[in-house]
Amino acid sequence: MPVPKNEYLSEVWKDGIFNNKVVFCTGGAGTICSAQVRALVHLGANACIVGRNVEKTERMAKDIATARSGAKVIGLGAVDVRDPNSLNKAAARCATELGSLDFVIAGAAGNFLAPMTQLSTNAFKSVMDIDVLGSYNTVKATLPYLAQSAGKHQSDGTTPCPSGTGGRIIFVSATIHYTGLPLQTHVSVAKAGVDALAQAVAIEQGPLGITSNVIAPGPIGGTEGMERLARPEDLTASKKRIPAGRLGTVKEIADATVYLFSDAANYVNGETLVVDGGAWRTHGVN
Ligand code: HXC
Repeated sequence: MPVPKNEYLSEVWKDGIFNNKVVFCTGGAGTICSAQVRALVHLGANACIVGRNVEKTERMAKDIATARSGAKVIGLGAVDVRDPNSLNKAAARCATELGSLDFVIAGAAGNFLAPMTQLSTNAFKSVMDIDVLGSYNTVKATLPYLAQSAGKHQSDGTTPCPSGTGGRIIFVSATIHYTGLPLQTHVSVAKAGVDALAQAVAIEQGPLGITSNVIAPGPIGGTEGMERLARPEDLTASKKRIPAGRLGTVKEIADATVYLFSDAANYVNGETLVVDGGAWRTHGVN
């Protein structure tokens, strides 16, 4: 059963703004990333989502394809972002089968709750490897295609880009490392690394016309992360503290994604867009 459009996208966006664009997304079968990709596909993009679980990734690709008649969405399972070879092959397949690779969402992440005293070296390393090294591998595997896409569309600021600008990366990060959070040492350190990577890519690859930005979701309802990581009693307490007075929705992350990939964000590079209803500023407030 297709997800109703108003559940994953605001009405403000124009249909077709991503026609002829292709998005490559790691962690694409997850709740947040699939919502991001679904919105882009609805607005004209084709997509390649990759993940570790074959069945889950292929099923999600089929589901996302229902967002627009004629959409092409490839689901490639058995792709671990820790393995550069599997990512290189996936990026090549995306570009060959869909004709280009214009946008990247680096969304694959690992997480669990554990106090530092129960965090083995390998547990810490696993999350660092998935989040930081995995994001780095994703950038490395897709940069040649992004550079090609950005070059094709790069404008001098006075010539309008006829079909929009390509060569864009969004990293999905978090806000927990802004203040630190108990039981999340590994993830806090990893997400700080992801943010630093996004900035380095922005500076180094910006001259090629590539933009690199971060979306930092706060507490988003209905996600795997919230279900697995937030205890119900903590959730009730934190909802009261969020200035918006509620959890966020995946639709709000999708809207931020559409903005950053749209021509409205042509001059936005190296930035973090926090989508959290003001929540992180209340971390530590009782
Ligand atoms: C302590 C744990 C643990 C736990 C695993 N480990 N779970 N330690 N507490 N709950 C340890 C293991 O014992 C092992 O260390 C090491 O971590 C690696 O575990 P494996 O299972 O072998 O690794 P792997 O199969 O690669 O799995 C990686 C993973 C797993 C990160 C551990 O949780 C995972 O695959 N997660 C992916 C999906 C996911 O988490 N998505 C949610 C993202 S939400 P030893 O020493 O025994 O070898 C999100 C939101 C961010 O990211 C924002 C936060 C608010």
